[in-house]
Amino acid sequence: MNKRVIPYVVRPTTAVLTRGFDPRLSVGSARPAVFRSSTYVFNSPESAERAFAIALGKVRPAADENVDLIYSRLSHPNAEILEDQIVPLEKGAKAAAVFNSGMAAISTVLLSLCGPGWSVVHTIPVYGGTQHLFDTLLRPLGVRTIGVPAGDGAALDAAIATAGNLRIVYLETPANPTLRMVDIRRAVEAARRHPDAPLVVVDNTFLGPAFQHPLALGVALVVYSGTKYLNGFSDMLAGVVLSADEEMITHLRGTRAILGNILQPDECWLLDSRLPTVTLRMNRQSKNAQRIAEGLQGHPAVRRVLYPSLFTDPEQINIRDAQCDFPGGIMTLDLKGGKMAAFTFLRSLRILRDAVSLGGVESLACHPRTTTHSELSPEDMERAGITDGLVRLSIGVEDWRDLLRDIRDGLDAI
Ligand SMILES: Cc1ncc(COP(=O)(O)O)c(C=O)c1O
Repeated sequence: MNKRVIPYVVRPTTAVLTRGFDPRLSVGSARPAVFRSSTYVFNSPESAERAFAIALGKVRPAADENVDLIYSRLSHPNAEILEDQIVPLEKGAKAAAVFNSGMAAISTVLLSLCGPGWSVVHTIPVYGGTQHLFDTLLRPLGVRTIGVPAGDGAALDAAIATAGNLRIVYLETPANPTLRMVDIRRAVEAARRHPDAPLVVVDNTFLGPAFQHPLALGVALVVYSGTKYLNGFSDMLAGVVLSADEEMITHLRGTRAILGNILQPDECWLLDSRLPTVTLRMNRQSKNAQRIAEGLQGHPAVRRVLYPSLFTDPEQINIRDAQCDFPGGIMTLDLKGGKMAAFTFLRSLRILRDAVSLGGVESLACHPRTTTHSELSPEDMERAGITDGLVRLSIGVEDWRDLLRDIRDGLDAI
């Protein structure tokens, strides 16, 4: 079998199907095999010694050196294939590391880059698990966390400028579940002016990799819950970190080996098979969501539909237009009747299911205040605008007219 080399640079949707995998290494199989081994046989004692020296960072591999695999907690063929194939999907990325959940990716980034005495400035709200990580792991370790409401650019500038020993600026945009956007470029510029040169990290789960490209705006790291759109079928957990800085990813892989939270071979294989369709799925989900969001405006039970194409705040509109290609598949309804209305609505749905998570081909709905964000303190809940009447919808690939009817029926039941 000839090794086929493409003599020109291909676009991301082609690259995801053509790089990172050599069929000759999987007995000619057109798609990757699953390599479940926990340990790998060395070519020689010398190559074992060399593989360990490289893994421990004592020496660097040569440009096209074929380093022996060691042990699956460090890396394995399916992780290598997935990490290579996901890179072209994230504009500006040069390397990726995969983890066994989004939280594994986020906690590995924060634990390996932050320590006692350092500060983290972050937007509010962040995903409840991330907030829990700040409160129950980082703060007791001596890391100072400073929250700023998403969308308040001046407050974020001020928090970055005045934080001492600033290591990380952590952004989640659009914010979950309020969809408030954070100006990524402005945060990068504020971080560049700080003497500690903090790293800007963006959780790109909601709009990436199809519609938002933080690395191209100068951020250091992008993190994902791969459980969501990257996978798209609500049948596995995964996390991914991407960067333009290959050494930073090597460092994170080192922490991953210590924490033992690499994505397992079967899950790598599954996620790898979902990548070629992520842009197709996200486009369809965004089109569906936009039609539904616009169709729900003005319903008597709805105070506001929180959705990027319906923004009215001029600053939010500017941020959206500058950094997002399309509005995406998530919207939040602010219901007039508070918690009781939200629960009646959730009980009345027939097609959308009452479940947390998002980004799957099936549509889901949930009540953030009592579920995904219940870990936030009452004050943070207020500051973030997570009120009793909010219901978050993750729109799937069903026919949008059936979804709109189901949602309207649920609203009418209130
Ligand atoms: C924006 C965001 N980031 C991170 C996570 C955590 O991901 P995982 O559940 O894969 O650990 C979630 C989960 O819902 C999320 O919505």
